[in-house]
Amino acid sequence: MWGSVAIVLVSAVVMLLVVKHRTSLKKHMCQSKAHLKGKTVLVTGANCGIGYETALELAKRQARVILACRNIENGEQAAVKIRQKSGNQDIIFLQLDLESMVSIRLFAEKILEFEPHIDVLLNNAGVMYPEYCATEDGFELHMGVNHLGHFLLTNLLLERLKESQPSRIVTVSSLLYKNCDQFDFDNMNSKSEARLSTQPNRHVAYCQSKLANILFTRELARRLSGTRVTANVLSPGMVQTRLGRHSLRKLPFALQPLVYVVLSLLFKTPWEGAQTSIHCALAEEMEEVSGAFVRDCQQAQLLTDVSKDEHVARKLWDVSCRLVGIV
Ligand SMILES: NC(=O)c1ccc[n+]([C@@H]2O[C@H](COP(=O)([O-])OP(=O)(O)OC[C@H]3O[C@@H](n4cnc5c(N)ncnc54)[C@H](OP(=O)(O)O)[C@@H]3O)[C@@H](O)[C@H]2O)c1
Repeated sequence: MWGSVAIVLVSAVVMLLVVKHRTSLKKHMCQSKAHLKGKTVLVTGANCGIGYETALELAKRQARVILACRNIENGEQAAVKIRQKSGNQDIIFLQLDLESMVSIRLFAEKILEFEPHIDVLLNNAGVMYPEYCATEDGFELHMGVNHLGHFLLTNLLLERLKESQPSRIVTVSSLLYKNCDQFDFDNMNSKSEARLSTQPNRHVAYCQSKLANILFTRELARRLSGTRVTANVLSPGMVQTRLGRHSLRKLPFALQPLVYVVLSLLFKTPWEGAQTSIHCALAEEMEEVSGAFVRDCQQAQLLTDVSKDEHVARKLWDVSCRLVGIV
């Protein structure tokens, strides 16, 4: 009898806490009513997760949206869905594989040929803890896709962004940047299978690539000062998307549905997770802001010395130029 009462009470408290937590997530929604008619927005990794929800919202606000995705079928399906849901027919899918410098250069060539202006570039795509470790060009996969791919893409499109000013560059990082208290240039691009074969090392590789997103944005904002092109970087919070699928698959099969349910109660939905990206892309109050770190639709402090270190940011810029072949 008392055992049953205790179970009911504990369940009720847990439910209350979950409801309170989920209500607090809803507090941080993008409040801007801005419309984007006549604006062109490019979103990488827009076929699912945070990127898809961001692209859908920007489409609803009448932007011309370019979905830059690696898988043709998934990219085309996302374009069809976004056209249907938003009623906006100006949605274009173009293939972009951030694992391949050739693909990035071909993509940028097409954009520069056909798009007279780019008003917002949203560097959203990302990978976490995949099985395979190296890109086509031999870069460690997290660094290659999450940082170097976006670094090259942004640089190839930079002149067009400048011609389109006021324009915005928004990059999706993560709070996990805090796990690196230094930027390990010696291991920035380790191709060693041995080094990346363990989960802790993959975790370090992911965190370092997210720190790179922050350092890159801060240096980019410094280089763009005096222009009306802004560069900001954000953390979307913990969001239930396919990003963690490589870790989830490693759990015992029977546990996977339980973990899924717990995560869906505690994590943001992709739509909630997209709010800070949407805010950075269109909020009026972000018009003049550059070099900021944003979470929950608000500017936030960076919490580690290395993430604020201008010398490290400059060095990363130079090393990245060399790795992707920009002079
Ligand atoms: N979910 C979270 O809790 C969380 C927390 C902090 C930061 N983030 C960041 O949020 C961003 C979006 O992630 P998400 O959570 O929405 O994950 P997701 O649902 O897995 O979406 C990731 C997107 O990136 C794309 N992508 C991966 N590799 C690519 C490549 N080589 N070329 C082009 N596109 C590629 C994926 O394409 P495919 O569908 O073809 O794989 C997918 O569209 C990432 O930068 C991630 O690091 C997420």
